[in-house]
Amino acid sequence: MYLTKEEERIYNGEEGIAKQKAIELLVALGKIYEADKLIPVSSAQLAGVSYKTIGDAGTDFIKFFSDNGAKVAVNTYLNPAGMDLCDWKAMGVKKSFAEKQMKIIEIFRKIGVNISCTCTPYLIGLRPSTGEHIAWSESSAVSFANSVLGARTNREGGPSSLAAAIIGKTANYGYHLGENRVANFLIKAQVKLKTISDFGALGVYAGRLVKNKVPAFELEQRSTEEQLKALGAAMAASGAVALFFVKGQTPEWSLDKPETIEVKEEDIKKVKKDLSDTEDVDHVVIGCPHCSLGEIKTIAEKVKNKQLKRELWIYTSRAVKEEADKKGYTKAIKTAGAKVICDTCPVVSPIEDMGFRNTATNSGKASLYLKKLCKQKISFGGIEEIIE
Ligand code: F3S
Repeated sequence: MYLTKEEERIYNGEEGIAKQKAIELLVALGKIYEADKLIPVSSAQLAGVSYKTIGDAGTDFIKFFSDNGAKVAVNTYLNPAGMDLCDWKAMGVKKSFAEKQMKIIEIFRKIGVNISCTCTPYLIGLRPSTGEHIAWSESSAVSFANSVLGARTNREGGPSSLAAAIIGKTANYGYHLGENRVANFLIKAQVKLKTISDFGALGVYAGRLVKNKVPAFELEQRSTEEQLKALGAAMAASGAVALFFVKGQTPEWSLDKPETIEVKEEDIKKVKKDLSDTEDVDHVVIGCPHCSLGEIKTIAEKVKNKQLKRELWIYTSRAVKEEADKKGYTKAIKTAGAKVICDTCPVVSPIEDMGFRNTATNSGKASLYLKKLCKQKISFGGIEEIIE
C-alpha cells in the first residue's frame, strides 16, 4: 500500500502511539483487501457504544486511545448506547450498567466525538453527498448512506471506524471503488408495498437470498425515505447487504448480468408470518432504525386521546425528539402512557433484563435481532397494527 510521507510518519509512531495504532489498523485492513492507498473521509459513525455489546474489553480498547491523547480528525457521531443517557432510570436500567455506560460516553467525549447516539445521523444533519467518502459502521446507516444518498462507505467495524475517525482516512477498497458498486441481483417486487413493515419484510426476504451481494430493485411504487431505511436495515440484518439500488429512486443504478428474482405477495406474507412467533404482547417497540419525525407524528396521531394497555417504547435520536417535543407529538405519546426514548435502541439496551419477553415491532431488523440477541418472542406488523 502506498503511504504518503505524513502517513509514514504516523505509521512510524512520530505522532504518538494512539495515531500509530489507528493507522496500523487501517493499513492492516487495506492489505487484506488489497487497497492501493488511504483516502480521506468526511465523517465517521462509530458502532460499539453500548456497554451491553462491547463490555469491559471494548471499553479498555477505546480507553487506550483516549489515554494516549487521540482526537478525532473528522465529524464523528456515535451509534446508540445501551440506555437513554438522561432518562435511564425510567427505562429500568440498573445503576451498575448506567455507570459503565457513562464511562464509555465520557471516553468518546474526550476523544472529541459528537455525543449524538443514533443509527440515523442522516436525519439530524450528517448527510453526506453522492460520491462522498465516509467511514460509517452501523449496518443500516451504512446501507442508507451508500444506497439512498450515494455516499461511499464499507461496512466498517467499530474499531476500524474509530481508527478512520482518528486518522481522517480509510483504506481504498470495496464500496469506495466505483467498479464494486454494481448489482448482481435484480429483484422485481411484484407486490404493492404499503407500510414500513412491508419494506422490512421484503428486506428480510432479499437479504437472505443475496447475502453480502448488491441487489437492485424494481418496485411498483415510489418509496419514502422511511421505507428505504427499513428495507436497507432488514437486508443488512438477514444478509450483509451494504448497498442496494432502487430503479428511478436511488442516485446509482448499475447492473452486471444480474440474476433475476421475482417477489410475489405470498412471499412477503410468508416472511411476515415466519417473523411472528407469538400473539402475546407485553411490549411494543418502534424505532429500529431510529424514528424520523414523520414516523413519530404517525404514532402520535394514532395514540392521541387513547390510554395504552401495554408498554409502547419509541426510539429516536435526541435531536428528532426535541423536534417532536416542539410539535407536541411527545406530549400526545406520553399522555397515552408510552415512552419516547433517546440515545439507545431496543436491541443494544438490556431489555431482556427488564422483564419483557413478548415484543411487537414493525421492524424487520428488530424482529431478527430481538429474537437472536434479546430473548424475545416477536409479533411483527405495521405501526397501526402493533399499536392496536
Ligand atoms: Fe438502529 Fe439499533 Fe436497529 S442501532 S438499526 S435501532 S438495532
